[in-house]
Amino acid sequence: MAKILVVDDEEIMRDMIADTLELSGHRCSVAANPQVALEQITVLNPDLVISDYKMPGMTGIDLLKVIKKDRPSQPFLMMTAFGTIETAVEALQNGADHFIEKGDNLTKSEILEHAVNMVLDKYRFRQENSALKKRLVGKDFIGQGEKYIELNKFVETVAPTNASVLITGESGVGKEVLARAVHYQSLRAGGPFIKINCAALPESLIESELFGHEKGSFTGALKTRRGKFELADGGTLLLDEIGEMPLAMQSKLLRVLQERVVVRVGGDDEIKVDVRLICTTNRDLKNEVSKGTFREDLYYRLSVVPLHVPPLRERAEDIPPLVNYFINKFNEENGYAVEGSSDDAMELLQKQKWQGNIRQLENAVERAMVFRKSSLLQIEDFDLEDKNVVKSKKRQ
Ligand SMILES: Nc1ncnc2c1ncn2[C@@H]1O[C@H](COP(=O)(O)OP(=O)(O)OP(=O)(O)O)[C@@H](O)[C@H]1O
Ligand SMILES: [Mg+2]
Repeated sequence: MAKILVVDDEEIMRDMIADTLELSGHRCSVAANPQVALEQITVLNPDLVISDYKMPGMTGIDLLKVIKKDRPSQPFLMMTAFGTIETAVEALQNGADHFIEKGDNLTKSEILEHAVNMVLDKYRFRQENSALKKRLVGKDFIGQGEKYIELNKFVETVAPTNASVLITGESGVGKEVLARAVHYQSLRAGGPFIKINCAALPESLIESELFGHEKGSFTGALKTRRGKFELADGGTLLLDEIGEMPLAMQSKLLRVLQERVVVRVGGDDEIKVDVRLICTTNRDLKNEVSKGTFREDLYYRLSVVPLHVPPLRERAEDIPPLVNYFINKFNEENGYAVEGSSDDAMELLQKQKWQGNIRQLENAVERAMVFRKSSLLQIEDFDLEDKNVVKSKKRQ
């Protein structure tokens, strides 16, 4: 069911359209001219406007332009006289979602309904998509400072491409959060996001984890298993701590990236995979390259788009929104009712060194919430050490 506003100066026509749509379950309002329509639209907040083109005083396109100024995402369906394709094109160029030709056809209710449903579906999809995005990305990638905004913009630009991304930064700065942001803002958002931590696996297991194995290929390979590359097909694969990957595996990885196929351990078949790769590291990979512990050719392949996440102590502006975000998070998780942090506590939090970056800040907030004496977190609740304060001249 949708709220629809029908604008037409011809009474018979607008009633006919409204009746047809009400019969299929929508709620319709009618306006006899564009001026009335403009007044109604702010009150009604319709899900769709259907307007005639030729009306006294103002054309349907003029109406469309005025509406779109205030409501750029207002769904709009234009009715045009039969055979006036130029008008239809002009309407689409000005932001109409679709058009229908007036004439005998329009009395066939299927045509009208089809057009209406098409526009409504498109809009619904858009809404769901942006709600999903907000839930998955907007909520977890918090900040407000200049560096954060810059990083965010960069992510927006590179996310829709298929370029490999190398995210660098100290431990706990949010490399994984950023990797997820890239995935969920990419065209692969509907596909899988698969993560593998290269540091957590013994060398003997990495290969079968990444590429899978055939049954019986080694002791313990009881079943055929797909590797992370296959699981990430159509989506994104995050290789966490790529700097820890042994040299022999680096060569195999390079081959996969060049040929876009994997071969399972103990198998012969080449399996095609369509995967976007994101790698993270807190090491200086260039340095590893010069030491000979990281392949240079692989380094260049992985770092097509380098993203550096600065340490938290260099972006103190992000601390207040992060603190509030964590307070909300732990309120929800534990049923607390903490209202926030006192101003002087917040100020002191912004002066800390935060060697453990956002992860450490998160823990500090959680601890303070456990030990709080009132609903407003105070300096004493945080257990901050003086030696951790960054000297003001060092801060930027
Ligand atoms: N911008 C952010 N907004 C909200 N939460 C964040 C943000 N950045 C990091 N976090 C939180 O901080 C913690 C550490 O983040 P993450 O695991 O992404 O860091 P990392 O750089 O991958 O760390 P490591 O190098 O140790 O793997 C997580 O709990 C994460 O949810
Ligand atoms: Mg990580």
